[in-house]
Amino acid sequence: MTRRKLIAGNWKMNGLKADGIALATAVAEKYKALEDKKFDMFIAPPFTILDAVADAAKNSGVWVGAQDCSQFEKGAHTGDVSPLMLKDLGCGGVIVGHSERRADHFETNELVNAKATAALAADLGVIICVGETLAEREAGKTLDVVGAQVRGSVPLNATAGKVVIAYEPVWAIGTGKIPTTAEVEEVHAFIRSELAKLLGQDIADKMQILYGGSVKPSNAAELLSLSDVDGALVGGASLKADDFWAIAETVK
Ligand code: 13P
Repeated sequence: MTRRKLIAGNWKMNGLKADGIALATAVAEKYKALEDKKFDMFIAPPFTILDAVADAAKNSGVWVGAQDCSQFEKGAHTGDVSPLMLKDLGCGGVIVGHSERRADHFETNELVNAKATAALAADLGVIICVGETLAEREAGKTLDVVGAQVRGSVPLNATAGKVVIAYEPVWAIGTGKIPTTAEVEEVHAFIRSELAKLLGQDIADKMQILYGGSVKPSNAAELLSLSDVDGALVGGASLKADDFWAIAETVK
């Protein structure tokens, strides 16, 4: 089964308007100029510059989206941003369940599932993040934790065209540490087997599973060559157009 690769950039809480537009423009120009587009590309700037970044990436083929959304459609939810509002801005998708949201905002699998469900209802693509902490890995609980996250966070109406899973070990995010290739392969294959139980083998076979956590130009080729790794969710290195592009260019 060959799955198309997705190179996704999560800018996190970085980027004022001018920097964000410059970064998005640089990435969009490179992608647009690419004759053989072997991979899809997604960037997720902060809410405040989504509009400007969506505009900068317009007609380039780069998919722009948010880093989070509300589980509600509208109403009395001060400070929240609904999937419909994101759709209205021209977003193609949204990341939900990032470990920083799970940790900083106490997001549970149930809440992540509700957010993903709301995003799908608004016809957005959804990247659902899962991943274990260092303590959980050291306690030998990685597959238990990741399995529970997949079963709890992925809506039962998820399809391969609309939902992407990102495996991001919390201890690899922003640390420069990455799991061994055998560890990455083990977890990705396990996630696919859990997806098969949840959604059926056909959807599981087609669904993209990204790896995230300290992906750099120097390690991307190896990570992206692993059989169940269908792309990367890149944090720090997505803030430099050249590094982000160098990662994308390792896609074979
Ligand atoms: P880093 O690439 O900075 O480790 O971040 C990964 C991440 O959290 C992407 O969502």
